Amino acid sequence: MMIKHMLALASLLLGCLAVTGAEASADEEIRQPAARGDHIESLLRQMTLEEKVGQLTQAAGGRSKNLNSKLTAEELDRVRAGRVGSYLHVAGAEPLRELQRVAVEESRLKIPLLFAMDVVHGYRTIFPVPLAITASWDPEQWETTARISAREAASSGLHWTFAPMVDITRDPRWGRVVEGSGEDPYLGSIMAAAQVRGYQGEDLAAADTVMAATKHFGAYGAPTGGRDYGSADISERSLHETYLPPFHAAMTAGTGSYMTAFNDIAGRPTTANADLVNGTLRSKWGFDGMIVSDWNAIAELMNHGIATTRSEAGALAISAGVDMDMMSLVYADDLPAAVASNPVLLQHLDNAVRNVLKAKQKLGLFDDPFIYHDTAKEAAMLRAQDHIDAARRVAVRSIVMLKNDNAILPLAGTKKRIAVIGSLATDRQSQLGSWRARGDKAEVISLLDGIKAGAGKGAVVNHAAGIDADNPDALKGAVALANDSDIVILVTGEDYDLSGEARSRSDISLPRDQQRLADAILAVDKPVIVALAGGRPLAVPGLAEKADAILMTWFLGNQAGPALADVIFGKAAPGGKLPISFPRATGQVPYSYGEYPSGRPADPDPAKDTNRYSDLPITPLYPFGHGLSYGDIELSNLELGSPTMDGSTPIEISATLTNNGKLAGDETVQLYLRDRHSTIAQPQKILRGFRRLSLKPQEKKTVSFTPTSDQLAFFGPDGKWRSEAGMFDVMVGSSAETIVLTGAFELTETVESKVPASAIATGVTVQ
Ligand code: BGC
Repeated sequence: MMIKHMLALASLLLGCLAVTGAEASADEEIRQPAARGDHIESLLRQMTLEEKVGQLTQAAGGRSKNLNSKLTAEELDRVRAGRVGSYLHVAGAEPLRELQRVAVEESRLKIPLLFAMDVVHGYRTIFPVPLAITASWDPEQWETTARISAREAASSGLHWTFAPMVDITRDPRWGRVVEGSGEDPYLGSIMAAAQVRGYQGEDLAAADTVMAATKHFGAYGAPTGGRDYGSADISERSLHETYLPPFHAAMTAGTGSYMTAFNDIAGRPTTANADLVNGTLRSKWGFDGMIVSDWNAIAELMNHGIATTRSEAGALAISAGVDMDMMSLVYADDLPAAVASNPVLLQHLDNAVRNVLKAKQKLGLFDDPFIYHDTAKEAAMLRAQDHIDAARRVAVRSIVMLKNDNAILPLAGTKKRIAVIGSLATDRQSQLGSWRARGDKAEVISLLDGIKAGAGKGAVVNHAAGIDADNPDALKGAVALANDSDIVILVTGEDYDLSGEARSRSDISLPRDQQRLADAILAVDKPVIVALAGGRPLAVPGLAEKADAILMTWFLGNQAGPALADVIFGKAAPGGKLPISFPRATGQVPYSYGEYPSGRPADPDPAKDTNRYSDLPITPLYPFGHGLSYGDIELSNLELGSPTMDGSTPIEISATLTNNGKLAGDETVQLYLRDRHSTIAQPQKILRGFRRLSLKPQEKKTVSFTPTSDQLAFFGPDGKWRSEAGMFDVMVGSSAETIVLTGAFELTETVESKVPASAIATGVTVQ
């Protein structure tokens, strides 16, 4: 027996054991595809309490930076004993085939394991960070990213990704802003649905799809002070109107699972919030899939102060509707005691087991537990050429041009001396951003290498880091290089380690050494193009004032360098738009374009007592939806299909875009609405439609949006969605602050609806 364990372990760690005849030796009855529901019920009847809590237990098979490292002989014994239902931080077609084989051949009930990982913006081929992909304002980019991530992850033995991360946030101090889709629930909903479609495809049981875990259900993006894991003390209205819609949109798109948030909402940790999880998510919305806790969150209910013992914590979480326990072992070790003293919990427990088994069934694991373990396919799939090509396209579309004075960009056909300045220009690690799955920095093309390759024959590209702990003269060297060049590309901002989980900042201006470098370079009398790196909005008024052009380049993944070069040298037009406002100073956050109106609206005149700061202009540095392009695209000709709208027919709102420039360019036309008067005051603008379009010189396109009456609804004090009859303002523009066309229509009747208004996608057509 011991020898067998050691062999199994060696094969797991080396990932090279050839497993033959595994299918033939496994129990045929367990694999029966027919009578699925019966099979689950029959398993449930046969399970001991220990096996039940085993199915609800997710263990780490390794660490995020050392996958599979915890799959010891003892761990395999736990699998044989049916004490684990799922592993995270594991990977590899071959090692996971062997782990799965132990479960389906050597455990009593032969229930397959579920293998999970945080595949958030790529698996081996790494795409831009999520906030950047959303900046494309193009859901197709998200769908492609998720599809390729799923193909790669599934070929490597994984069934389940902890994505999409759909937490809305209006506080860029929060480090996890990098993982989400920004400040707006409508944009966030569109991007959430695109990701679920991409990961899950048409059929969860197919060998190239993975189950999505939409996270972190609740209001994780609203922590007090922007500090990760902090309490969200928000209203029922903002919970339903702002934070929950992307979760609903993910459900409509078919997400197989959710993860609950670590934090509490006004004293109620979501992991134990039966009203929110069982109530809103399951009963009201009708979600019937699986729900997993976040890492150790069930045990942390004691830190929250709502449970005194582990078994009390387990009882609260299972009663709330949390099916799987990620890493706290509370269900495995302490729930049985709670069930013994309160048998009612058994029903909750059985339901949780059903949900876990149903997920395994949907993934096809009872039919063929080895479908995800084809090593030849894995080798062909990881970093396939079309995946790399897609990573470059997505990266190009993620770049946001914040400023371009005198059309300095694109730098076409120049025989110039180009100085690339900044340590971030060669920092390949940073381009992988937060959550890199099996991404490898050696496979990143740095910004500097991209610029060198894209600059063309006549150009000379030199680099100076400007910041170097080992070289006190680094800054001087950078200034000298700038003086000696025709044009400077200054790469500045944050590195990857300043955003992500547990990486909140109290000051979101440039880090001090980056600011020193930027000040020194901007003082040189040369044109300066800034490539701004970061995983969050940055308060950079100095750059905004002095740089000639600014490209927000976030962290762009494997193809960062080529993508930036494509934009700088005009091979592609930039066209990203900000998915979250950039403040002028940290003191301006939390901030959103969609604020409620004040009785004393902000007025720049300091002599008046109004809703403003005395030391800052009232507007953000760069607003939500802002982003420039090449070409010269004009918006005109707003038309409404009718001056009125009833409860059952959408209204048609159209506008025309014309490119009057000499270069091709992109524009994302944005539709905002405002309910002028209602029983509950409504935000000054809400996004209700957008479409990104590319236009050649002189090209003209007309976009039509068809919002419906339930998209005009607000969350009433009685918990109902209601659109009140009355006048609605229509605003069409190129950012939340750049409204070019205005109109109005009347909703002629009050209507009630069931779905969060921002979770409903507006119909869009282009002619
Ligand atoms: C994060 C989750 C993640 C989990 C597993 C937690 O710390 O909050 O987003 O899915 O770890 O890695």
